[in-house]
Amino acid sequence: MQPIINFPLKKHNTFGIDAFAKEYISVTSETQLIEILKEKQNSELFILGGGSNMLLTKDINALVLHINIKGINVIKEDNEFVWLESKAGENWHEFVLYTIKKDFGGLENLSLIPGNVGTTPIQNIGAYGSEIKDTLVSCDAVEINSGKVVRFTNSECNFGYRESIFKKEEKGNYIITSVIFKLTKKNHNFNIEYGDIKKELDQLGIEKPSIEQISNAVITIRKSKLPDPKELGNCGSFFKNPIITKKEYYLIQKQFPSMPSYVVGEEFVKVPAGWLIENAGFKGKRFGDAGVHKNQALVIVNYGNATGNELLQLSQNIQETVFRKFKIRIEAEVNIL
Ligand code: EPU
Repeated sequence: MQPIINFPLKKHNTFGIDAFAKEYISVTSETQLIEILKEKQNSELFILGGGSNMLLTKDINALVLHINIKGINVIKEDNEFVWLESKAGENWHEFVLYTIKKDFGGLENLSLIPGNVGTTPIQNIGAYGSEIKDTLVSCDAVEINSGKVVRFTNSECNFGYRESIFKKEEKGNYIITSVIFKLTKKNHNFNIEYGDIKKELDQLGIEKPSIEQISNAVITIRKSKLPDPKELGNCGSFFKNPIITKKEYYLIQKQFPSMPSYVVGEEFVKVPAGWLIENAGFKGKRFGDAGVHKNQALVIVNYGNATGNELLQLSQNIQETVFRKFKIRIEAEVNIL
């Protein structure tokens, strides 16, 4: 398999950064992936999925393996559940729409999240009170060093808030090739308590929503807050919501009484980074082609020709200003390369 040399990545990262890969191969099957790993044992590798969670600050001086393995299969089903497998290269939202068309419940709150299926377990994607860990049964991954296929069960993935084993202990060791989800065929377990979803359904006068109606509500909410990467380069939330101790929170809250928080266990609270960034004065601000989105301060946007470094500088400026004002450190959710 001959790689393409000096391959442009602008269309393959949702920030729309104009960077190049030294070498590039589009991988369309697990067998092909294993062969390449054997052949290219001494090459430096970079694994590319949907490109929706990375900020490229330079060219990638490596062999880029673009995981384009496709396919959706029913693994088994009974009266109540279906075990549905998606290969890693399927677009996440198209996969979610497929489950909605089939009336399978469980992924509706995760509609319209950019990226591919294979990268969703890495950061345990989540939105509107749901996370991938709620429905994921297992994922198959190829170990880069040995070429062996390993199955990780849900608990072996060690999921946390935007975290998994693939970001920690096993970072860089595996390439996910497929994911199995357990979805409901009836008695759906809807999660519509999240404020915005409830409001949206109430406005439409829907009391007992269908899977499709919940998905449509989520799509409407996301479209109203989050920019479409096809129109405005972005990677969704650029930062994670910081988790601090209750003690720290009460101290800071004395000075900023309107600062929101969500309880995390007995000792900690999560503070919305969007609120911190907005109240540090960045919401809707633009610095050349790099900016902060006008409807959601957690999202950094590329108005056209911002370089990766300009976006990085803006993110660092935000982190420093937030820290100076609130004494809270916010950490990037996006991978900075
Ligand atoms: N807020 C502001 N100003 C802003 C944005 C938010 O004050 O500009 C405050 C408000 O108090 C609001 C609260 O933040 O009530 C929460 O905002 P939102 O519901 O938009 O959620 P978020 O915590 O900012 C998280 C995820 C999003 C996900 C939404 C909805 C993270 C890092 N982000 O954002 O995920 O869509 O919840 O569930 O956890 C992503 O990861 O790319 C992403 C978009």
